[in-house]
Amino acid sequence: MTIKEIQEEIIRLKKEKDFCILAHAYQGHEILEVADYMGDSYGLSVEASKDSRKNIIMCGVRFMAETCKILSPDKNVYLPNPEAGCPMAEQMNLEMLDEMKKKYPGYAVVAYINTTSELKTACDVCVTSSSAVQICSKLDNDKILFIPDPNLGNYVQKQMPEKEFAFFNGGCPRHLAVTPDDALKAKELHPHAELLVHPECRPDVVAEADYVGSTTGIMAYARKSEKKEFIIGTEHSIVEHLQYECPDKMFYPISSKLMCHNMKLTTLVDILNVLKGTGGEEIVLSDEVMEGASRCINRMIALG
Ligand code: 13P
Ligand code: SF4
Repeated sequence: MTIKEIQEEIIRLKKEKDFCILAHAYQGHEILEVADYMGDSYGLSVEASKDSRKNIIMCGVRFMAETCKILSPDKNVYLPNPEAGCPMAEQMNLEMLDEMKKKYPGYAVVAYINTTSELKTACDVCVTSSSAVQICSKLDNDKILFIPDPNLGNYVQKQMPEKEFAFFNGGCPRHLAVTPDDALKAKELHPHAELLVHPECRPDVVAEADYVGSTTGIMAYARKSEKKEFIIGTEHSIVEHLQYECPDKMFYPISSKLMCHNMKLTTLVDILNVLKGTGGEEIVLSDEVMEGASRCINRMIALG
C-alpha cells in the first residue's frame, strides 16, 4: 500500500468505527494529515474530553494517552505503538516522590503533565508547558515542589520570584542536549532570525530566546509574527510543520540533536492496525489511579 492508500483507509475506517484521532505536534506530517486535532499536551487533553466519538487514538506518548483516558473514562483510548513512552515521564516513581515530600514538608506538589498517572495520584495539581505559569501563580501555597522537570520549573520560578521552589533533578533528555553554544551558533548563522524555545530547554538556552512557549505556543507565535526567519528550539517536527504552513518564511532547527525518537515511533500502519483491531494498546487504568490522577488533572483544568 502507498502512504496515500493507507491514509485513505484510515480515514474511511475512523468514520465507520466512530474513532477520533489526536496527534501531538511532534508527530510527522503524514500523521497530522489523518488527525482530527493536532495540538500540545494541554490542548489535546481538552479536545479529547469534548469530542463526542466513542473511541480515541492518541498519537503521541503513553502519558498523553493516559491523560485522555482519565479525562474521558467512558471512551476507549488507544496508544497505537505501546513502545512510545516519554523518558522524562518515567524518571520519577512514587518512592522517589515520597522522599522529596519528606525533604520539603508543606510544599504544594506540582506535576508536569509528563508524568505517569500513578505519580499524579500523589500530587496536588498538574501543569502543562502552556499552563504552568498561570497555575503556579494561582496556588495559595507559596512553596512549590515542582516535578520532574527543573528547567520548566526554573522558567516558572523566574515569573514569580516571591514563591519558593524545590526541584527534582530530571528533565527531557532531548531538550537537555541543546547547549547555549548551539543557540549562539544558530544565531550567528541566521542573524535575522528570532529564537523560539520550549521551556524544557536549559535556563541558559532559554535566556537567549526571543519567545518561550509550548509547542503550539511556538507555532502560533511564528504564524503571527511579522518576522520572516525563525530558529526553533524544540522538536524537529515543529520546524517541518511550520515550513509547510508558512512557505514565505524560513525555519531552522536550533540543533540536529532535538529529535524525539519516542514521538516518532508511531506510524500510519500502527494507526491502521488499531482501527482494524489487530494492534495498538487500549489504555486500562485501575479505579484507584483513575480517581487519584483525575483529581490532579481536573484541578489543572479548573485553574488553567
Ligand atoms: P507540550 O506541552 O508543549 O506539548 O510539550 C510536550 C512535550 O513532551 C515537550 O517535549
Ligand atoms: Fe518526552 Fe522529551 Fe520526547 Fe517530550 S521531547 S515526549 S519530554 S522525551
